[in-house]
Amino acid sequence: MVTTAQPATTSTFSPLTTWDGWQQFVDTPHAPARDAGDQEWTLEQREDYHARFVVLKTPAMDALSTAVRRLLLLNRGQQGGARRGLIISGPATTGKTTAMQQLGRTVELADRRRHPNQDGRLPVLFITVPPSSTPKMLISEFARFLGLPALERMNQIQITNAVCELLCELGTQLVLVDDVHLMDTRSRAGAETSDQLKYLGERIPATFVYSGIDVEASPLLTGVRGSQLAGRFKIVRNQPLRYGSSADQQIWNDLVNSMDSALRLRHHRPGALVTHAAYLHARTGGRMGSLSHLIREAALVSLLDGTEKITKRLLEQIELDTAAEQRARAPHRRRTPTQRQP
Ligand SMILES: Nc1ncnc2c1ncn2[C@@H]1O[C@H](COP(=O)(O)OP(=O)(O)OP(=O)(O)O)[C@@H](O)[C@H]1O
Ligand SMILES: [Mg+2]
Repeated sequence: MVTTAQPATTSTFSPLTTWDGWQQFVDTPHAPARDAGDQEWTLEQREDYHARFVVLKTPAMDALSTAVRRLLLLNRGQQGGARRGLIISGPATTGKTTAMQQLGRTVELADRRRHPNQDGRLPVLFITVPPSSTPKMLISEFARFLGLPALERMNQIQITNAVCELLCELGTQLVLVDDVHLMDTRSRAGAETSDQLKYLGERIPATFVYSGIDVEASPLLTGVRGSQLAGRFKIVRNQPLRYGSSADQQIWNDLVNSMDSALRLRHHRPGALVTHAAYLHARTGGRMGSLSHLIREAALVSLLDGTEKITKRLLEQIELDTAAEQRARAPHRRRTPTQRQP
């Protein structure tokens, strides 16, 4: 079930793949949205609010958080070797990265509650696989997150040892690795990078969570190398949300309703978005990325033109990403009778 909305906290300027950026993301307090009529809330601030908007809890996030809680417990008793991990897999722009970051934030905040006033801990590390990555590039991402100096003067083994020792000292429990589909294990560099990741999983006593586009169908999980990974990693699918059964519709409607209640537009009728829930699903194909884009852009346009409300007409004027537009047009094309040849 979809539950409460939280203000989105991602900063545009500090990458989350650095210690500072990550801490800033975790620390950003959940400032409640102000009243739409608050005269001290400037137009610019309200634009910023709607540009960032909210992160909603989706059913996939719930499944992920339950699975990771169990894994953290399970792996706690595992001293070395085959710790279990998890892969978030799904189509593009379905919210995989967002789900992963929210998970990391929850785990880090829980760790802080368990160890109050204890500096020098780093419960969660978040990195992204660089494009065309080599093993050295991958381990350098870990090192960069940790702020290790003089990387260029160290070789791969030295960086790997420094990273592993530091992560053990800092009590890291969760390592989040995003965009693992970028490792093409059919190429030599990709295969060696995936070996490096597996090796890190054995050296660092943490639970590893990967995320990537349609990973189950990728070479990462096939062949000799892949089978080892497939045997240790469970997959949580992050699919677009459906709108078929009444239970599916309820989930989608709750999500749209949460977005509606997060809007702070002066002339918006509360609940108006929910009346367009089916239309919103048809436009976005149930993808969180497209839904968030559509509502945020509509909110911003209405702030700029002063109408300050989201109507179906306005939604129709907003052009989405190419993939979403093609999907939304596809059913109409199928319904169009085929032209008979004269
Ligand atoms: N649960 C959510 N609530 C609100 N907005 C969301 C949510 N999940 C994703 N979004 C928005 O959708 C957009 C895409 O999300 P995200 O980058 O997490 O998707 P992704 O699946 O990782 O995409 P890609 O496959 O391109 O890596 C972002 O702008 C994000 O803010
Ligand atoms: Mg992503």
